[in-house]
Amino acid sequence: MSRACVVGGGAVGLATAHRLACDGWDVDVLDPTPGRGASWVAGGMLAPTAEAWAGEEALTELGLAAAVVWPEFAAAVAADAGTDVGWSSHGTLVAARDADDAAALTQLATLHRTWGLHSERLTARDARRLEPALGPTTRGALWLPDDHQVDNRRLVEALVAACAGRGVRLVAARAAAVGPGRVEADDGSAIEAELVVVASGAWRVPIVGAGDDAIPVRPVKGQILRVQATDRAVFPHHTVRGLGVYVIPRPHGEIAIGATVEERGYDTTVTAGAVHELLRDAWELLPGLAEATFVEAIAGLRPGTPDNLPIVGPVPGVPGVVAATGHHRNGILLAPLTAALVGALAGGTWTGPGPDAARLLASCDPARFPAGAGDGVTP
Ligand code: GLY
Repeated sequence: MSRACVVGGGAVGLATAHRLACDGWDVDVLDPTPGRGASWVAGGMLAPTAEAWAGEEALTELGLAAAVVWPEFAAAVAADAGTDVGWSSHGTLVAARDADDAAALTQLATLHRTWGLHSERLTARDARRLEPALGPTTRGALWLPDDHQVDNRRLVEALVAACAGRGVRLVAARAAAVGPGRVEADDGSAIEAELVVVASGAWRVPIVGAGDDAIPVRPVKGQILRVQATDRAVFPHHTVRGLGVYVIPRPHGEIAIGATVEERGYDTTVTAGAVHELLRDAWELLPGLAEATFVEAIAGLRPGTPDNLPIVGPVPGVPGVVAATGHHRNGILLAPLTAALVGALAGGTWTGPGPDAARLLASCDPARFPAGAGDGVTP
């Protein structure tokens, strides 16, 4: 049996390890705290249409392809884990709370129409009929029936169980360096593996035979809140995205409110200003949130890239080392697609949408960056 070592046990690393194990690889995952990094902090939006931005059509194409594989991925992980992953298909509303938001909504609707995305303009009245928790000042909304969400914490816990069920070994160590056929851990041990997958998110790992910028990720800080619904007010049943905030209700009453986007290096402190702004913006959209019980404020680090596209594919000049990182705002959404892409690169059957992986891999190719593309941010 061929051996693979996945460096990083977040949603992307664990989904990739699970895919490789399903394809017959003997897999190790190196991570001191699997599933407790950015994947734990995340909101869990599976929302390629709500997150579509002008100029980022290739990213939207990846997100839509990922949305196609999500139901089958959720079922496969649940079957191996013996527990569901918390996938909810209730759709998403993008809501405008004032005239400026309404103008931005019109631009977003135009983008959706131009790209052929599934999106329906609602009057304020229809939006509030669909989602009674929306505030009285709502100025209309877009209904995105294909944008869903997953409870990211249930997901990573299910992935850990599914990986264990497939014989994947979780090694509680950090990678000190990777190279062709070998991963050196920070505890002095080493793992020999034909395939090395670098899925360490915003954390760079030195790659023997490649420059510091071979995988030019940088940390993009996100602060996010969690509150719990009570029986004292009307809480949302759909994911609601404002122009500067999103609100994600889980079936068990937890509501995630996110998230800031900050260039602060590896800082993960929670700031009073961010908590204030997130609560204010969420409350303006959904006033009932004022009655929720405050549970948590937490910060994590998204792996940003120079062009906002992920970095998935062979690391140039380093045989047997594949990158699977740089997912920025879309790590949870793109995890199963990334796993399918790495599985195909490793010689497995293509399990993603469409005839083959080539077109999607072209957008994520690590070789697209010139030397020195990274910003040199270090922990
Ligand atoms: N996908 C939303 C975020 O990264 O905050």
